[in-house]
Amino acid sequence: MIKVSHLKKSFQQTEVLKDISFNVENGEVVAIIGPSGSGKSTLLRCLNYLENPDGGQLEIGEVVLDTKKATRSQINNIRKQTSMIFQHYNLFKNKTALENVTHSLVVTKKMKKEVAAEIGRDLLKKVGLLDKADSYPVKLSGGQQQRVGIARALAVDPHAILFDEPTSSLDPEWVGEVLRVISGIAEGRKTMIIVTHEMNFAREIADKVIFMADGYIVEQGKPEEIFDYPTNERTKKFLQDYQKQVGDFQTNGSPSVREVMK
Ligand SMILES: Nc1ncnc2c1ncn2[C@@H]1O[C@H](COP(=O)(O)OP(=O)(O)OP(=O)(O)O)[C@@H](O)[C@H]1O
Ligand SMILES: [Mg+2]
Repeated sequence: MIKVSHLKKSFQQTEVLKDISFNVENGEVVAIIGPSGSGKSTLLRCLNYLENPDGGQLEIGEVVLDTKKATRSQINNIRKQTSMIFQHYNLFKNKTALENVTHSLVVTKKMKKEVAAEIGRDLLKKVGLLDKADSYPVKLSGGQQQRVGIARALAVDPHAILFDEPTSSLDPEWVGEVLRVISGIAEGRKTMIIVTHEMNFAREIADKVIFMADGYIVEQGKPEEIFDYPTNERTKKFLQDYQKQVGDFQTNGSPSVREVMK
């Protein structure tokens, strides 16, 4: 499981994460929503130690650490517990789809190339891209590249996958296929945290939704609690503003994920 307790992070004078605590059970999918600048990406980056938190405790899988006293080896261990998927697929351009997926298995896990390739092919199949195993990123669409990135994240079999707006830089035509792949992984009971602006997707995929604003968790609960019966004024305003921009996400307007994924 993931246990975040009293996590804090500032950049110079700006306190970006003020006192963040939440849990993610094994196999649970948590969606984090909230306005731009509320600290969502910073939170994910702190979990993966791409940023060093200033305070608080973290427990991810087997690794428990106090961020104020964390040793180098604890930090290395906690980094290995999660894989991150970013908005921009950052594949190695000079490697094929398969080589991108197997890279960390061969380099970090010292696996034999043939063994890694077998795992890599299985994962490419899982994301529907087995036929593109030998293609270079330049020959793949945005959605396909992002799916290779997801296969790559799965390759090291992390305790959890952290997605930071995995579809927001994609052309609309590729969004559905990437959401479908993420849903498939969620159905396999992989522990995941997904920062997303896709409210329909959050509603349908998440076991729990966390609404962040100004560096705090303002409200968290089941999707229907947050989307249908938000109690905090800030959550209500955020969802109302979203509705104004995107349309009535609860009933019609922007298509439901199920429709997108048909
Ligand atoms: N490396 C950094 N140095 C200084 N300030 C930063 C850094 N990274 C983030 N910030 C600031 O921290 C705040 C939170 O940023 P963050 O990227 O976590 O927000 P977000 O919720 O992910 O926003 P968005 O929805 O736009 O992606 C912002 O005010 C941002 O300017
Ligand atoms: Mg962000």
